[in-house]
Amino acid sequence: MTPGLRPEVTVNGVGIGLDGTDPATTALDWLRSRGLTGAKEGCAEGECGACAVMVARPGADSGTEWTALNSCLVPAASLDGQEVVTAEGLGTPERLHPVQRELARRGGSQCGFCTPGFVCSMAAEYYRDGRQPLDESARDVADDAVDDAADEAREPGHGCGANGFELEALSGNLCRCTGYRPIRDAAFALPEPAADDPLAARRTEAPPRAAATLLEGDSGRYVRPVDLADAIALLGEHPGAVLVAGSTDWGVEVNLRGARAALVIGLDRLAELRALSVGNDVIEIGAALSLTEVERGLAGRIPLLDKLFPQFASRLIRNGATIGGNLGTGSPIGDLLPALLALEADVVLTGPRGDREVAVADYFTGYRRSVRRPDELVRAVRVPVPLAPVTAFHKIAKRRYDDISSVAVAFALDIDGDVVRRARIGLGGVAATSVRARQTEAALEGRPWTVETVHAAADVLQGEGTPLDDHRASAAYRRAVLGTSLPRLYAETSPRQEASA
Ligand SMILES: Cc1cc2nc3c(=O)[nH]c(=O)nc-3n(C[C@H](O)[C@H](O)[C@H](O)COP(=O)(O)OP(=O)(O)OC[C@H]3O[C@@H](n4cnc5c(N)ncnc54)[C@H](O)[C@@H]3O)c2cc1C
Ligand code: FES
Ligand code: FES
Repeated sequence: MTPGLRPEVTVNGVGIGLDGTDPATTALDWLRSRGLTGAKEGCAEGECGACAVMVARPGADSGTEWTALNSCLVPAASLDGQEVVTAEGLGTPERLHPVQRELARRGGSQCGFCTPGFVCSMAAEYYRDGRQPLDESARDVADDAVDDAADEAREPGHGCGANGFELEALSGNLCRCTGYRPIRDAAFALPEPAADDPLAARRTEAPPRAAATLLEGDSGRYVRPVDLADAIALLGEHPGAVLVAGSTDWGVEVNLRGARAALVIGLDRLAELRALSVGNDVIEIGAALSLTEVERGLAGRIPLLDKLFPQFASRLIRNGATIGGNLGTGSPIGDLLPALLALEADVVLTGPRGDREVAVADYFTGYRRSVRRPDELVRAVRVPVPLAPVTAFHKIAKRRYDDISSVAVAFALDIDGDVVRRARIGLGGVAATSVRARQTEAALEGRPWTVETVHAAADVLQGEGTPLDDHRASAAYRRAVLGTSLPRLYAETSPRQEASA
């Protein structure tokens, strides 16, 4: 590979060299070491958003989208050739950015520790392409949504303002002292960006190109290959290398468990891993697209994923996290895997011998073990279409948002008339790998979709897998959750019974 000349990141419009930066240094530590101390370290594991910054990423069309990321998780090296905006770059005390002005005006900041992170997440949503004021009818729905969830609405994660601001944009940011109401008020008061706003104008230009990067230091090397062939050649030479995409798992390993790698191969900008194609028989999703890109690119074409995405971490994490990374961790509580099982998806692996496809159901061979060979990487997943019409994703976690599953159940059912023609059910958190609930599927198929069938199959579902006791949940609780999942789906899919007089 031919690395770029001098690794450099454009921060707030100024190029800053990465020379002398260790490859394991996070973007947060690097920014702070350069005097940009607005972004803070609250947790160093993607949970609080105090470290959020904006990065210029490819937009849905050919333009650029300002995307908020957790700078505590991504290596600084991965930003070579990219453009970053921090809270300092948005405005100054004399000339506040509209986001900063509204937060100040509405009392959205007290101690200020979380504020630069909120400012960056909020600014990314402020500049989101497609954010536009709701028309009157949509406004009523949005108002109702907030009123209905009045208690919950005091936290980020609910509702949409009349200005089109989706509060979910703030779901990865925590504030310990202000309370969320003034922060929400500031978000909902934001106008459209002004005509002469340079960051708004930047969106109409091409995004920064992915630079070929080589950064060496005491901990090892970070390499961003120029293309897939380069990545495969490098992996062939160094089968022990760590592949990194969004770094939402790897960043936690580095920060909290002290993990270091002799060689990290950055996959996140590889064009061959970033395509999304919709065909008549299959939808192919590139392994290195962020979940936000997948969600927006699919535009509702896979309803099961639409039900899953809002339950997956937070917007900040989904702006980085990828499907390849979720498969790469092999975690039995990864949320995408039960859904991919229910969708009967295939994993496309690629290596020196070319592509090969493996059904997700055959992909994992044990706890965090898979059929992926050391010289292969995940290029894409392929979801066959047409899709089953009845789908649901039930995630049980200790917190409703931004938490890992204790148990996850994904359903994809084909119900013809009143008869279940086909049932596919993926389970997470109840075995060493995600598993298909095959006995429950058999207990449903060919039977009428009635409360009797559902209760009989629920008993079978309760016995699937080999759940364990751990710090998230007991085995008995996990079984109980499995037992309630099918009746819950039945209630969700059946017309509501009128209360008898
Ligand atoms: C605060 C927080 C909340 C989270 N919440 C959830 C949640 O709700 N549900 C959930 O499932 N997960 C959750 N996660 C975990 C994580 O976000 C997901 O596993 C995510 O999909 C990882 O993607 P990534 O691109 O960031 O992976 P990375 O960190 O880049 O990589 C993870 C692993 O996958 C490997 N890998 C990456 N790409 C490939 C590839 N193309 N081919 C082969 N191997 C590859 C890497 O070598 C590495 O071992 C959370 C993480 C954090 C920090
Ligand atoms: S420091 Fe908490 S999310 Fe980064
Ligand atoms: S203003 Fe103090 S933590 Fe948010």
